Amino acid sequence: MSESNDAIGVVGVGWVGLVTAACFADLGRDVVAMDVDEAKVAALSAGQVTMHEPGIEELLERNRERLTFTTDMDEVLGRTRLLFCCVDTPPTYSGDADLSRVQAVVSKLADDGTHALVMKSTVPAGTGATIRREKPSLAYVSCPEFLKEGSAVQDFLHPDRVVVGAEEGSDWAADAVEELYRPLGGKLVRTDVASAEMIKLASNAFLATKISFINEIANVSEEVGADVTEVARGMGLDTRIGPSFLSAGLGFGGSCFPKDTTALKQLAGNSGYHFQLLTSVIEVNELQKRRVLKKLEKHLGKLAGKRIALLGLAFKPNTDDMREASSLVLSARLQGEGAKVAAYDPVAAERASELLPDVEFADSAAAALENADAAILVTEWPEFAELPWAELAGRMSTALVIDGRNFLDPASLREAGFAYEGIGRPG
Ligand code: UGA
Repeated sequence: MSESNDAIGVVGVGWVGLVTAACFADLGRDVVAMDVDEAKVAALSAGQVTMHEPGIEELLERNRERLTFTTDMDEVLGRTRLLFCCVDTPPTYSGDADLSRVQAVVSKLADDGTHALVMKSTVPAGTGATIRREKPSLAYVSCPEFLKEGSAVQDFLHPDRVVVGAEEGSDWAADAVEELYRPLGGKLVRTDVASAEMIKLASNAFLATKISFINEIANVSEEVGADVTEVARGMGLDTRIGPSFLSAGLGFGGSCFPKDTTALKQLAGNSGYHFQLLTSVIEVNELQKRRVLKKLEKHLGKLAGKRIALLGLAFKPNTDDMREASSLVLSARLQGEGAKVAAYDPVAAERASELLPDVEFADSAAAALENADAAILVTEWPEFAELPWAELAGRMSTALVIDGRNFLDPASLREAGFAYEGIGRPG
């Protein structure tokens, strides 16, 4: 590669794109990151961070001189050969992935072997083949991302594995991607494009399956008097099972699992295969969020007129992402039953206020709990474990906690005067 075009191109500076750009810059590469959102590009160019993600601010600050943010695709194409496609692929109404943003990127690339498109966006298996048919001379690499929001920077810098899928003719690009990731360690999986695409979809589907599985075990545990946290501990020690993603709770949310499980189910269906297991995983997840209402009613009777406090709104801690957050369903269901909903989240309140009509936003957990008939712990923000629960019990109308993430210590809560209900734990 010549001096002039050895920067790394990143298209789409959402979670994945911004973390990718910042981390490659931190590895010493010049990065040109492009987005169509002018306000976002202006903010990033001025050094303002557009999302809550631990570590990202420091990385952007430290590498400012290596990072260019632009809305101009020609600038990206002029300075790079490798173009990481990080645009989002949201679900369409039908549940299929919306590839219009990916297509917009592809349409900008000449079919002449100058550039390589490195696909980090989550796309249906077969997308790479379609793009290659459309532009056979464009080098194409599938390099799916496995970052978790809230620990995306750490995940990027310390990958378990790096998957690089490419076909003949794109070897130079696949080698260059391998080279970029080599300093980070992690096992390399060099494979074909379709398999790389499936690795991503299957990994998310499997993790989602683990969550729905343990949630069903939790629901059965409630019937038979077992404690799902003990069950998960015992199961997780089997190295074939492993301890991670066995935390029972309100179900999975976020921008990935709900979308990717549905997209894989649709992808299978479109090819004539009914993916029965995944269909159940999705259904279990939907029902799991709603079970909380029964727990409330057990203690409070009808919920009309009751004040219910939601502790945490984001789909998980360390992020302000509200996409597919359980709090959205919970708040709608509670309001549907006539309850008043108060809420507190340390970082997601601003985003949440646009999505949760008629919810009273408090500026502290204590304020949300004032005169409440119940608290539902929705997101396991560490600060909720440190609350002065004994004192708060006296400020609530009913000292009732529904711990939707099995995050609090039931014994201490009960000692503090609370009726405590977890998920899959003895009442
Ligand atoms: C997920 C995957 O973990 C990443 O590997 C993947 O790269 C990413 O999707 C993606 O496709 O972009 P993320 O959505 O950021 O990452 O969050 P997770 O930490 O995986 O959590 C997803 C949801 O599952 C959260 O709502 C969380 O509360 C829930 N969860 C997780 C459980 O209910 N139980 C568990 O044991 C683990």
